[in-house]
Amino acid sequence: MFSAQTYIDRRAGLISRMKSGLVLLTGNGLSPMNYTDNTYRFRQDSNFLYYMGINQPGMMALIDCDEGESILLGKEPTIDDFIWTGPLDSLSTLGERIGVEKVVAIHQIHPMLSKALEAGREIHYLPPYRADNVIKIHRWLGISLDDAKEGYSIPLIRAVVAQREIKSEEEIVAMEKALEVTAEMHLTAMRTAKPGMTEAEVTGKVHGVAVGHGGGLAYPIILTVDGHNLHNHRHHNVLREGQMLLGDFGAETDEVYSGDITRTFPVAKKFTTQQKEIYDIVLQAQLDAIEASVPGTTFKSIHILAATIMAKGLKELGIMKGDLSMAVEEGAHALFFPHGLGHSIGIDVHDMEDLGEAYVGYDKDTIRSKQFGLRSLRFGKALKPGHVMTVEPGLYFIPELIDLWKSEGKFTDYINYDALEAYRGFGGVRIEDDILITKSGNRLVGPTIPKEIEELEAIRGEAY
Ligand code: GLY
Ligand code: MN
Ligand code: MN
Repeated sequence: MFSAQTYIDRRAGLISRMKSGLVLLTGNGLSPMNYTDNTYRFRQDSNFLYYMGINQPGMMALIDCDEGESILLGKEPTIDDFIWTGPLDSLSTLGERIGVEKVVAIHQIHPMLSKALEAGREIHYLPPYRADNVIKIHRWLGISLDDAKEGYSIPLIRAVVAQREIKSEEEIVAMEKALEVTAEMHLTAMRTAKPGMTEAEVTGKVHGVAVGHGGGLAYPIILTVDGHNLHNHRHHNVLREGQMLLGDFGAETDEVYSGDITRTFPVAKKFTTQQKEIYDIVLQAQLDAIEASVPGTTFKSIHILAATIMAKGLKELGIMKGDLSMAVEEGAHALFFPHGLGHSIGIDVHDMEDLGEAYVGYDKDTIRSKQFGLRSLRFGKALKPGHVMTVEPGLYFIPELIDLWKSEGKFTDYINYDALEAYRGFGGVRIEDDILITKSGNRLVGPTIPKEIEELEAIRGEAY
């Protein structure tokens, strides 16, 4: 965690944005897997972490924007905690660590909130995404479950997004650490995978790197030769020469910052000509998209730039045809690139997605498209210094989607369906890096992870 001053400053920033009212920040509890005492790995709420820093279950916070006072609520450790869990800090020690004015026993929260409601005070909270916190809000505020789920504060969302979207220097240092581990995970995959192994075996090694560094995963590992299934978390295939292996995974450090990197490489030691051709198109789109990621440019326009570069490459291969700017405007390229170019990343891999992409990735100047492909772009607004973004174009050959569009006679002016037969079973290629937008442009966050064909073939050449 950071110094107390960081949390004091963040809360002061929130108070000055909110001006009045009581902010309730709900920390997370432990979530049972199959019975109460057998829980999933604990994950603190990201907003709670940002303002309160305490990575422990069962905590809540009240920030009084009228009085300028922050209160941490939790339980004093009992002898049972010492017996079963080990030494835990007292509430007052935790409070000192984050510079709050007051610590209070958690059972006081209900009467405190009831009193605030009786006094006619406004209570702001963020969209609750866990059922236990919805139930708590319902009980504490005396509102229906539906109202508890929907009654979140839009001014609070806007204030939090404005703060969290601009990463401080110490956050970038924390993200660099997450990317160091993430790089090691990717190099492990590149050095481990060989024909005859299962995806699960490689996944186990990759996961082990993250755990070995004291953290965990920023999201479930995607490691598959079926890279065209975008968020495919199965690891059942046996790797075969001739396939491309797509690995999209990243570490979440114990400081709770995320990495999100994708690399795609052949199961064989070398790319085939067909694999090279598709890979080169994606790499060119990614490099050009990164270069275009500068303050003031909308990420939506960079998404369209990447789509246009890839459409051009596909035309050179005879897969697309016709007027490419019209093809991209109408969305024909989305047959091969059905997702967005990237998203904000930070404490969360999709940073602040709990607060709603409408607030995180769009604004009054940038409206979200309803078109297939472009509608999946999580972040379209103009870039600012301090944004950390993923840039992750990809090309995929999804047999079911190709067959559907072909049967519908869709975009026959732009797509040469006959040429696609040669790509059945190709899978997909995605290349993803994380970049910091700076005053003058951008820079990579974390170490350079090999992505040029020659670099990948060199590593694969020594792998087995
Ligand atoms: N790891 C999921 C994504 O790239 O958005
Ligand atoms: Mn991503
Ligand atoms: Mn990813």
